[in-house]
Amino acid sequence: DATKKLPAPPPEYVRLHDLDARLEGMIVIHSTALGPGAGGCRLWTYPSIHEVFVDAVRLAEGMSYKNALAGLPFGGAKAVIRQPDAPFDREALLSAFGEAVERLEGRYVTAEDVGTTIADMDVVARHTRHVVGRDRAAGRAGGDPAPWTALGVFHAMRAGSRAALGSELSGKTVAVQGLGQVGSRLCGLLAEAGADLVVADIDVDRTARIARDYGARIASVEDVALFDADVFAPCALGGVITRRVAATMKARLICGAANNQLAEPAIAGVLRQNGVVYVPDYAANAGGIISASAEYLDEDEEAVALRVGRIGMRVAIILEEALRTKTSPALVADRIAEKIMIGMEPPGGI
Ligand code: NAI
Repeated sequence: DATKKLPAPPPEYVRLHDLDARLEGMIVIHSTALGPGAGGCRLWTYPSIHEVFVDAVRLAEGMSYKNALAGLPFGGAKAVIRQPDAPFDREALLSAFGEAVERLEGRYVTAEDVGTTIADMDVVARHTRHVVGRDRAAGRAGGDPAPWTALGVFHAMRAGSRAALGSELSGKTVAVQGLGQVGSRLCGLLAEAGADLVVADIDVDRTARIARDYGARIASVEDVALFDADVFAPCALGGVITRRVAATMKARLICGAANNQLAEPAIAGVLRQNGVVYVPDYAANAGGIISASAEYLDEDEEAVALRVGRIGMRVAIILEEALRTKTSPALVADRIAEKIMIGMEPPGGI
């Protein structure tokens, strides 16, 4: 399968540099074709500014595709901040970041991501209104995105089960890797739907608790991807579907919350050849950004529920098209997102 993406439109690179606040990083706005570039702010340790740049470019591009496919009126962007050596003044750092976001006059909307929290976004919000992922009033959209992400993955998995396994999730064995904010909630939804659960997490107490709550079996962290299950749900880290996993896994369906599940794009083709149906990660895990974008647009929770509910239908269309055209679902999803970005397909049209 070809994996080449659409030539990127000229992105906007904004260097974050404030010596006093010890802010060093990059905002990359990959696309504003559909609206302001939206994507979280990552605060992480990087060996140099070059790695910051590479990560920000990759993540911003991913957000363009995710937002487009989810039918959101947002482009893609990402902020990556290089974590200074401790001790550092977190409030000063995030204030300087907020000022940088404000200078972009709404072309970039930020939120929490790996390494940042709701409290951090409250600091950012003192300097700009172009920030989401904060506490919200009852009934309004926003707040913790994880329940929406879990629900979206569940809808996606139901559609995947029909397409790949020929029936509903009841009685199917689902191996869930990672039992954090999203994975634990996904287990709840799957148990309710009558699925048999196999769970694994590096946190042994958490694993034992989830196993007890839902009558799940426990797999080792090393073996969970290869477990003799119907479905594998990666909800921990990216890159877990390596060539070795793709060639030897027993599950016929992959559907989970983790970003960048494939260790490299070409693995989508390997999976297809081996008869494994891969639900593209960004199609399945869009619930979080759907919730965050509704917060920015000051919508209510009903609007979020409606959009998250469409994830299943969208996945069904992607999997059908992949089967019909003998391509990988990952490639089909990319092509649909690109058509939406260049206006060949109406946003939310599928
Ligand atoms: P989290 O940090 O709450 O949970 C991750 C869990 O994975 C933790 O329990 C951790 O102990 C476990 N873990 C880490 N390494 C592991 C390993 N090698 N094997 C098994 N378990 C391992 O994160 P959260 O929010 O649940 O997100 C899960 C994944 O979904 C992440 O990759 C995240 O980027 C992605 N995601 C999350 C969204 C959200 O709304 N929270 C939205 C879209 C994507």
